[in-house]
Amino acid sequence: MEDFIKKTAEYIVSSKHVVALTGAGISVESGIPPFRGKGGLWEKFDPMEVAHIDSFMNNPEKVWRLLISEMKELLVSAKPNAAHLGLARLEELGLLKTVITQNIDGLHQMAGNKDVIEFHGSFAWLRCLDCGSREQTVEVDLSHMPPRCDCGGIYRPECVFFGETIPMQDLDRSQIAASTCDLMLVVGTSAIVQPAAFMPVIAKQSGATVIEINPEPTPLTGTTSTLLVQGKAGKAMRKITAEVGRIIAEKQR
Ligand code: APR
Ligand code: ZN
Repeated sequence: MEDFIKKTAEYIVSSKHVVALTGAGISVESGIPPFRGKGGLWEKFDPMEVAHIDSFMNNPEKVWRLLISEMKELLVSAKPNAAHLGLARLEELGLLKTVITQNIDGLHQMAGNKDVIEFHGSFAWLRCLDCGSREQTVEVDLSHMPPRCDCGGIYRPECVFFGETIPMQDLDRSQIAASTCDLMLVVGTSAIVQPAAFMPVIAKQSGATVIEINPEPTPLTGTTSTLLVQGKAGKAMRKITAEVGRIIAEKQR
């Protein structure tokens, strides 16, 4: 791993336009469970039952109770970890331009990243199904399920459910970011949910280097990605960021 950490840091410093694609794995060290694999949410729930737009529309109360209110506890208390902070530091250094995240936890913004594309939307805002008005989740009374707008309509979270398409603007911006970067860091995603998993492929096809940080290999490993830094995101990113700092300091000497 140490060798790959060094290589990744060298790639980052010598690139002109770095973009990151992140998934649930980056927030695991913040106490938020992933979807797939051991301890994942989809071990407990059937995604088509709790995360499909049709299920939500058929029975919003059930979906709110089952999935979203369970996640809320984790989301309101979760803090960014070393991986989020490392990406924020890379943006601060002018190296990282954009984070495309599949996560709805808002931890990248909390860590300080300014350019974050929330590919699957966000849990930070709710939208009324009847009148369309938006409200910040923290401002809404979640003690009664389903939560309701002043007009009486039911609120939905502004995240992208299965069965829904990615908002055009987010998809467009992500495709542009993927096709213009020269290095894409793919952190903590199983890379199986489309179209998010296609962004590294676009990057690669456009000539970029793709590096993964993940304890496990993914379908991208060895085909789309050049390198897999095999380990936890927080631990790896802390080391990578330190190494980036060391290389920059050395250059300035
Ligand atoms: N650090 C880095 N990666 C980790 C860590 C960690 N500490 N722990 C687990 N992982 C990796 C797993 O090996 C796996 O590859 O994170 C990945 C998590 O995969 P998923 O749970 O499938 O999460 P994600 O890729 O974000 O899922 C995509 O699926 O259901 C949906 O909408 C949901 O946005 C989500 C999408
Ligand atoms: Zn309303």
